[in-house]
Amino acid sequence: MSDKYSSIHYTNYLQLDKVIDAQKLRSAELGEPAHDEMLFIIIHQVYELWFKQIIHEVGAVLEMFKGDHFEEKMVSEAEHKLVRVIEIQKILIDQIKVLETMTPLDFLEFRNYLIPASGFQSFQFRVCEIRMGLKADARITYNKTVYSSVFSEEQQKTLEQIQKEDSMFDAVQKWLERIPFLNFGDFDFTTEYLKSVKNMTEREREAILGTTHISQENKDMRIRMLDETQKYIFNSLDEEAHNKSVAEGTTRLSYRATVAALLIHLYRDEPILRAPYNLLNKITEVDELFTLYRYRHMQMVLRMLGKKMGTGGSSGAEYLKKTVEQHHIFQDFQKIATLLIPRSDLPKLPDELKKQLNFVYNH
Ligand code: HEM
Repeated sequence: MSDKYSSIHYTNYLQLDKVIDAQKLRSAELGEPAHDEMLFIIIHQVYELWFKQIIHEVGAVLEMFKGDHFEEKMVSEAEHKLVRVIEIQKILIDQIKVLETMTPLDFLEFRNYLIPASGFQSFQFRVCEIRMGLKADARITYNKTVYSSVFSEEQQKTLEQIQKEDSMFDAVQKWLERIPFLNFGDFDFTTEYLKSVKNMTEREREAILGTTHISQENKDMRIRMLDETQKYIFNSLDEEAHNKSVAEGTTRLSYRATVAALLIHLYRDEPILRAPYNLLNKITEVDELFTLYRYRHMQMVLRMLGKKMGTGGSSGAEYLKKTVEQHHIFQDFQKIATLLIPRSDLPKLPDELKKQLNFVYNH
């Protein structure tokens, strides 16, 4: 057997000497060893390792998105990588329970030795956020501190560079904007879709007005809500109104990308749109799990610290609570659910377009 296959040992391959030797308890160094500090260090290290894997997977997906052609096969490959990210994220959320076996009192035994170290200084977490699409100006700040000021100059430069590159949000938006089928011969998807929305709303209006089981007041309220939803849908599909809301910052996803995402959701049963639909779904799930992780971390912080400030100097749980809402990146994908209509109301696609949508699997 050549050296290539025989020379590596488990311990060397995994560099376990470094990894297993990397837990230095500050409490012990300072002469007052606290039993739970070992858990505290190991769990952070495990998180950082998983962050590294997430960055690796998301980076590979972003590479696939580069260029003008994101083929069918790549869509499935990208989805596969995101499924891995999702499984890792579930572990990240789940292992908070392990940390919660440490009581707030046990934490207090060594907490003071950590100041001013904080998860706020996790470089890899910031890379994950930026790669997903969190922009510097959308961040919650505290003590008027720029989030990146806690890093070395070199790390700050790296973050700035990553910020300039396409994030998952940018890449997905560009890909959606390139999706064909929105206009096909005489068939204009938006016009046909809005006709269906009107028909659906009229049917619902008749059903509400015709029922004898609810009071007039209740009927009026339902009609009002129905009209509001219809107005919201028409506004979302009006290019000018949509662009205005993007300019005002209430919406982030471009008009064309929104319409394409809607088309994919509505016609996801068409063979060619199944993979794009699955990919959008996985991205939404990754985004949701980041939010869930933030929420669980914040709950754990409440349990450990109550209203105390963080070791990094923030207001603690209060700051973290704000990030749950505001650092959510793909919110516009969730809003698409408001625009969905039942399969039975879907505009019928022209035969030629249907043929094209099936083309990939039938030729
Ligand atoms: C006893 C356990 C923990 C407590 C009490 C705690 C507390 C806090 C607090 C108060 C903050 C806000 C910044 C500050 O003022 O320090 C924070 C931020 C953060 N923590 Fe933790 N944390 C704990 C465990 C963890 C673990 C295990 C991780 C895993 C890596 C982690 C990752 C983070 C990250 C990434 C941030 C930055 C969040 C952001 O700015 O959006 N924390 N933590």
